[in-house]
Amino acid sequence: MILFKRPGDLIDFIQKKRKSAIKVGFVPTMGALHNGHLSLIKKSKSENDITICSIFINPTQFSNPNDFEKYPISIETDIEQLELNGCDILFMPSVNDIYPENFQKNNFELGYLDSILEGQHRAGHFQGVCMVVKRLLEIVNCDILYLGQKDYQQCMVIKKMVLDLNIPVEIKISPTIREENGLAMSSRNKRLNEGEKEAALVIFEVLCFLKENIFERDIADLKVKSVEKLKAKGFDIDYVEITDEFLNTITTAEKKQTIVALIAATIGNVRLIDNMILNNANDAE
Ligand code: PAJ
Repeated sequence: MILFKRPGDLIDFIQKKRKSAIKVGFVPTMGALHNGHLSLIKKSKSENDITICSIFINPTQFSNPNDFEKYPISIETDIEQLELNGCDILFMPSVNDIYPENFQKNNFELGYLDSILEGQHRAGHFQGVCMVVKRLLEIVNCDILYLGQKDYQQCMVIKKMVLDLNIPVEIKISPTIREENGLAMSSRNKRLNEGEKEAALVIFEVLCFLKENIFERDIADLKVKSVEKLKAKGFDIDYVEITDEFLNTITTAEKKQTIVALIAATIGNVRLIDNMILNNANDAE
């Protein structure tokens, strides 16, 4: 694996490689890598000639400075894991490389996505995500961008930005990788103590409960029950939401529509998010 720190060096390298017809896959991350990230690397490996992973803890997407400061860092094991999984290039820029002094801040037109769910609870978060992803895409010049469904709304936001700005990249979304007990893998799990980790299983349990009951019970009732279950385990809840595939809240469930459940809740000092597709429109009879 080749490590690039300076954007210019990576740009030159990719430009030279592109003299022959190659496909480049890109997996942007903030490090503290786990099997969720690695599933994206593996997918990219299987579909491209070159796979690039970036590790950059992006300050502009943290609305909570405490969360930024406490973001876990494990560069050495990250590098080991990337090498083991055959990643070709690791890009690790500095804040100054990504946001030089003359950096022009765009305002991204994200519509309702900026003000619901994660947008509502983390002001400015998606503007920061768009800012960094746009910049990273300019540098890595990839064919396919790999994202995880774990961050459902982030996938929608990035898809919208790519479409609106005509960025020539295909986006592929991979399923959420979970621990055996169902807990969605997340860099933030490292900050949970044993008791909190145990309690956090309730998130997956609630998502499964919603999936089992979505056509059996009233949605309002299901939400109340879900909140109760999360609270009983000590969670502070930002939202338990049931939506269509575009994240519009729904109040009745129909088999012919895609239905998604999304949860954001905090235990101790750690805010966790998770989601599950409860019904897939394509599976409707
Ligand atoms: P990060 O949280 O490091 O996640 C990097 C990528 O891994 C994202 O596409 C995320 O959805 C995916 N991912 C995380 N956990 C996953 C899991 N359990 N299963 C499958 N995929 C998972 O998301 C970010 O970083 C940043 O916002 C970023 C896009 C890099 C911009 O800074």
